Amino acid sequence: MMFTVAIDGPAAAGKGTISKRVAAFFGFAHLDTGLIYRATGARVLAGEEALEAARSLRVEDLQRDDLRTTEVAQAASKVAVMPEVRAALVDFQKDFARREGGAVLDGRDIGTVICPDAEVKLFVTASDEIRAERRFLELSGKGQDVTREGVLEDLRIRDQRDREREAAPLAAAADAVLIDTSEMDIEEAVAVAISAVEAVLKR
Ligand code: CDP
Repeated sequence: MMFTVAIDGPAAAGKGTISKRVAAFFGFAHLDTGLIYRATGARVLAGEEALEAARSLRVEDLQRDDLRTTEVAQAASKVAVMPEVRAALVDFQKDFARREGGAVLDGRDIGTVICPDAEVKLFVTASDEIRAERRFLELSGKGQDVTREGVLEDLRIRDQRDREREAAPLAAAADAVLIDTSEMDIEEAVAVAISAVEAVLKR
């Protein structure tokens, strides 16, 4: 069976947790496409040229344990502006989406550019302050030296860059189900996402 769930939204809206849980529930594979951009950005921070890094990206690059920092996130959103970098990463994502057994992909342009024919499209949002608070707790919980103000600033700068770029900007597909998680805990948000997928599977 081929079945694609596309989950997009701004930074730290809860896409990662929702995607993992939806994939586990239905037995689908999961690809966090943000990691591809983070891994490319990390290699640029280490001195490589962006397109070269994107073209030679390997699975091991996605498994690095230093990708979840605000510095790497900023570098990711800067390489993500470059159309040739995005183009170099398209095939890998499209192939993953059409794999046998179902796939969940989360990112910024999955429902609009990578998988415009996805069976289910979700667009997950939350207020800036709530997203910043959740990300602050996540990063400080890992022992990173972050402040609430610094995290909020990172999200706002990236969201603006992601929304305003020419190539595959962050946007909800016209047929996406909007999920605002500002007033939901993670269990509620996951339940809403699972019911949206079930509604399509039942057809
Ligand atoms: O985890 P968080 O939502 O903060 O970010 P992420 O999903 O890991 O993505 C990091 C950056 O990669 C984003 O700010 C985007 O600039 C870029 N990205 C993208 O352009 N397209 C995607 N499909 C996924 C991420």
